[in-house]
Amino acid sequence: MSSDEHRREEPDLKPWIAGMPKAELHVHLEGCLTPQLIRQLAERNNISVPSSLSSLDQSSGYSFHDLTTFLAVYYPNMAVLQTEHDFRDLALDYLTRAHAQNVKHVELFFDPQAHTSRGVPFPTVIRGYRVALLLAQRTLGISASLIMCILRDQSPEYAMATLMEALPFKDAIIGIGLDSDERNNPPSKFAAVFQRASKEGFLLTAHCDIDQVNSIDHIRQVIHEIQVDRIDHGTNIVEDDSLVDIVREKGIGLTCCPISNSVVTDDFKGKEIVDLLRRGVKVTINSDDPAYFRGYANENMEKMATDTDVTRKELVQLQRNAFNISWISSWRRNHFLSLLDEYENRTIPRMVNGV
Ligand code: ADE
Ligand code: ZN
Repeated sequence: MSSDEHRREEPDLKPWIAGMPKAELHVHLEGCLTPQLIRQLAERNNISVPSSLSSLDQSSGYSFHDLTTFLAVYYPNMAVLQTEHDFRDLALDYLTRAHAQNVKHVELFFDPQAHTSRGVPFPTVIRGYRVALLLAQRTLGISASLIMCILRDQSPEYAMATLMEALPFKDAIIGIGLDSDERNNPPSKFAAVFQRASKEGFLLTAHCDIDQVNSIDHIRQVIHEIQVDRIDHGTNIVEDDSLVDIVREKGIGLTCCPISNSVVTDDFKGKEIVDLLRRGVKVTINSDDPAYFRGYANENMEKMATDTDVTRKELVQLQRNAFNISWISSWRRNHFLSLLDEYENRTIPRMVNGV
């Protein structure tokens, strides 16, 4: 019997993962728009339900086969987000779900250009999200911050203008990221925008999606030209030992998303993630667009636990990595790390071989 089969039979695996204190560092707020919330917002705003929902299969969900086909559903669905109230409800809906899964800290991407490009003012978006984060912190005790993503399939001028719009809201935004369609949109296209963002005090991250044309080249660009603090996805570094060494030595964290990988490529890349973990790279497990890929923090951890040979101690290490590479104050980091240590000490010694 393989170790995979053995773990699949462990009845306490799901509750053990559910009870672990966790952090999410790669989740798009617009990717938290569930079909149920889309319908509610469409009704509230008196607009028609987006066409993607009429062909939605309730049991198997949306049908995507790559990033491009996913984004072709993702952006039109956002038409239901119109008022500050809508953005607040979207963020609160996700934060409530994350809190129920014992997620202690989240860093949430948002795409202002997906809204400003259709006439929704930047302040409407950020004010709605900001109030939701404050409410969730106060009522649920969940720690959260925002990362503003630049749409890489739009122009660098539009990206710079969006960065300028964000400056009055600096208090609410911890970092700047890069997302959307990677094809023909290398990170270097936005070097000046990232340079300005860094000067303004923002931390930096960028998507290097899985198995893209020029993945390795794009990863080199984000490290050397953009000088990112983290990389979103980035798992393709496994193809190049020198890149693995650079990422490890610089302490650059990777925010990996197993279930998302399995939807937009033909593999969830679990083996690669475990390989990088064992080579000392700070890999983490995240949900990306949970309403679309049908997996939140727990389900992504479960996928790793059941479909790879990762041990329980290593599953804890994946969460330790997340708190370590998160953009929080050191006192808050230490607090979460001590919760995790306590959980590991309390639950793992009872297991045979820590597996
Ligand atoms: N926007 C939302 N999810 C994304 C992903 N996985 N890659 C690029 N852009 C995105
Ligand atoms: Zn993403």
